[in-house]
Amino acid sequence: MASPPTAAVEPVLAVHGITKRFGGVTALAGVSLDLLPGEVHCLAGENGCGKSTLIKIISGVERPDSGEVIIDGVAHSRMNATSAITSGVQVIYQDFSLFPNLTVAENIVLTAEVAGRQKLYRAASVRPKARAIVDELQLDLDLDSEVGDLSVADKQLTAICRALVHAARVIIMDEPTTALTHTEVARLFAVVERLRARGVALVFVSHKLEEVLAISQRVTIMRSGRVVTSGLASDFDRRSIAEHMTGSELDESRLVADLDESAAPRLVVSHLDLPGAFHDVSFSVRPGEILGVTGLLGSGRTEIAEAIFGARPAASGEIFIDGRRADIRSIPDAVDAGIGYVPEDRLSQGLFLEKSIADNIVAGSLDRHRNRWHGLDRARIRATIAGLFSDLKINAPNPEAPVRSLSGGNAQRVVLAKWLATEPKVLVLNGPTVGVDVGSKAQILDLLRKAAARGMAIIVISDDAPELVSCCHRVLVVARGRVTHELSGDEITAEIIHERMAA
Ligand SMILES: Nc1ncnc2c1ncn2[C@@H]1O[C@H](COP(=O)(O)OP(=O)(O)OP(=O)(O)O)[C@@H](O)[C@H]1O
Ligand SMILES: [Mg+2]
Repeated sequence: MASPPTAAVEPVLAVHGITKRFGGVTALAGVSLDLLPGEVHCLAGENGCGKSTLIKIISGVERPDSGEVIIDGVAHSRMNATSAITSGVQVIYQDFSLFPNLTVAENIVLTAEVAGRQKLYRAASVRPKARAIVDELQLDLDLDSEVGDLSVADKQLTAICRALVHAARVIIMDEPTTALTHTEVARLFAVVERLRARGVALVFVSHKLEEVLAISQRVTIMRSGRVVTSGLASDFDRRSIAEHMTGSELDESRLVADLDESAAPRLVVSHLDLPGAFHDVSFSVRPGEILGVTGLLGSGRTEIAEAIFGARPAASGEIFIDGRRADIRSIPDAVDAGIGYVPEDRLSQGLFLEKSIADNIVAGSLDRHRNRWHGLDRARIRATIAGLFSDLKINAPNPEAPVRSLSGGNAQRVVLAKWLATEPKVLVLNGPTVGVDVGSKAQILDLLRKAAARGMAIIVISDDAPELVSCCHRVLVVARGRVTHELSGDEITAEIIHERMAA
């Protein structure tokens, strides 16, 4: 095990021997970690290894069963969320906890005023305070915009500014780049560099290994609630991180099955149009084919998928399934026509969080599980659940565990299982492996290949170039609501995809 060189600087925050159990599940088993000022410390590890739980403990949202959090040399064994904030620990949550109907300036400054019990905040002081921070981070944020109107990236930057108003010395970001474009990621990284220069200690969680290597100075790799290794980022590469995470080698090779060129298309999309979203979109997908659709965030790629699934129907144009025109005005129309959709935002769409994994898996496919007397075929339901639970390697004690108890990446697998259980003719997946660790990503792509081999037509919407390269027969590039390029065969490389996306 590589140990980090002895640090000359004192950690801003250290955790010692943290253990945390949820019922029978040991989420953390004796985790220790130092966060140094001016360093980005990356936590890497497979889905469910305990990264988010560790963050919740550092930020006082969860109490550890044993172990302590030490801030500036003072041990806290009963820290709560408020005392964490007072001690300078800030988490940039994925929903950013911002007030949508207040302005950027108000969001940056006001909660700090309230937390500081300065009840008589003066509106006049809000803008200058916000301005100072926005300028220091060299951000191009309009202080007077309502936060509800901002892009995800700008909301995130607003949340980071707010953290600085709280005099944050530790800033924690759990998968902050999942909803960002390449350009936005670059902008976030520039901000992170400025935070570092200010001496802030940052914790960064991401499943994108290139990002981990680009942004962090120190890397800690966890597996099953323990630290496997920790050291300088410069001592790692993609391969070694993946190997420490999974205990096996990383395989990202391109693997696409031969297609039956004579087969009639499963799905034909013809001149689909939705003013303000996309224009004149036409393409087809054969049985067995995996079609990639890529483009920057806001390019219209998600809107096209939502139109095919009836969530936001197109204004004009036609969709055909197996040669028959499908009039898709709503989600039930799409489901009846044999279309499945795995949404981008796995937690707000598509899952019943309080229900079990098992219930969620079969929720959409009960009609397929009836016997010839129209009663539910319980044995078949159990077999479907057990099969998908193990094929997708969902990390939970058993299928009866509630979805709420799953880690992010495992919840994503349940959404996928739910749609695979319906055996749709056409399956549209929006970011199928967002938040999924590198090892499991390969397994999920393999499941898609198998589903395609059974004759499904699959559309993968993704901006993860290696993923598209690994599984797609063709890739469509969408920009400003139009299909601008179609790549096939040898043209499908990460370089060409990035180049065409940016063009
Ligand atoms: N509230 C909870 N109740 C029960 N189990 C939980 C709870 N929160 C987390 N767990 C379990 O603790 C383990 C660690 O989960 P955690 O969310 O920390 O993983 P993670 O490393 O963040 O994974 P991911 O990369 O998928 O986000 C998992 O087995 C998870 O199912
Ligand atoms: Mg997590």
